[in-house]
Amino acid sequence: MCQTAVLMRGLVPPNVERLVPYSPGKPVEELERELGITGAVKLASNENPWGPSPAAIEAMRAAAAGVHRYPDAAAWELRRALAAHHGVSMDELVVGNGSNELIDLVCRTYAGPGDHAVIGAPSFVCYALGLTAADVPFDEVPLREHLAWDLPAMAARVNAATRIVFVANPNNPTGAHVGGAELEAFLRSVPEHVLVVLDEAYVEFADAADYVSALALRETRERLIVLRTFSKAYGLAACRVGYAIGRPEVVEYLNRTRAPFNVSAIAQAAARAALADPAHVAAYVEKNRAERARVVAALGGLGLRVAPSQANFVLVDYARDNRAVYDALLRMGVIVRPMPAPIATWLRVTIGRPEENDRFLAATRELVSR
Ligand SMILES: Cc1ncc(COP(=O)(O)O)c(C=O)c1O
Repeated sequence: MCQTAVLMRGLVPPNVERLVPYSPGKPVEELERELGITGAVKLASNENPWGPSPAAIEAMRAAAAGVHRYPDAAAWELRRALAAHHGVSMDELVVGNGSNELIDLVCRTYAGPGDHAVIGAPSFVCYALGLTAADVPFDEVPLREHLAWDLPAMAARVNAATRIVFVANPNNPTGAHVGGAELEAFLRSVPEHVLVVLDEAYVEFADAADYVSALALRETRERLIVLRTFSKAYGLAACRVGYAIGRPEVVEYLNRTRAPFNVSAIAQAAARAALADPAHVAAYVEKNRAERARVVAALGGLGLRVAPSQANFVLVDYARDNRAVYDALLRMGVIVRPMPAPIATWLRVTIGRPEENDRFLAATRELVSR
């Protein structure tokens, strides 16, 4: 055993040893440096390719003058705006450093090592990371054909020790949604002792006739938290702002476990301004809808299977080893996201600006013709 391994043995508990760091999409600058190319496009992290409302950028500039002071630890103004936006009370809201922080907080606030959780697979990788970090054992319930939520199967995995169930609607990486009737049946069927977390990071893009936000189903159960983010439709991924909505007596515990001053003053200001500019979000959602339809049709025309998406990305089956596809697309200046088993022939591609999508489609065309 090498010296380092000897020194490190027992340094961390086994659950931390098992953790694999989250792997973010490759930055454009890194790829361009490596390949000596320019004009590479990143379609790997489901970001808004158009940027936030100009009002949010202006608000950040103004907030920069006050950064020698700590931010409002209670995010009072932002919660007030969010409460008005959603028609809830301020004590039903907790703001986080991205919804990712809230996912982590949920895992270590409502469960511990003797407990149990249920997640879907494939779904957002941070549920498994957060639960592992909190040392909470969990079951992963396969989606139907890897693509469609199987909520009855998830409910069936709940046992007396289960504390948390995570459902993303729409889901990442599949883009799949679950309809209102099925969601309501699920929320009613999960035993009362379980906290159901509905992650609605992509809610603004969902346009299926049967899509219903869990916010409209809050009377179905007390132990329900809905997660939202400013990182996707609002175009503020780098600001790191998300929020949880739930009953005051449920979400109040997140205020006990979160760090003080967890959301920066610049981020709070940006989120408030972005929330006050719904037309900007609506315009992006519309552009995404049109481009998503165009990309899906073009990929279908190339004979590739595309999962039906309610989000700002699509999951594409290249029917071959996706690492090779990923590398080939990289060499053509297109960064996408390869998926792990059991969907290791699929890649997730963010819907970008028309010219970015054109570049991705041209690269794919070349790839499938080889
Ligand atoms: C389903 C889902 N939830 C949550 C997040 C985290 O978003 P953020 O931490 O930027 O709010 C993401 C990001 O990709 C996501 O896909």
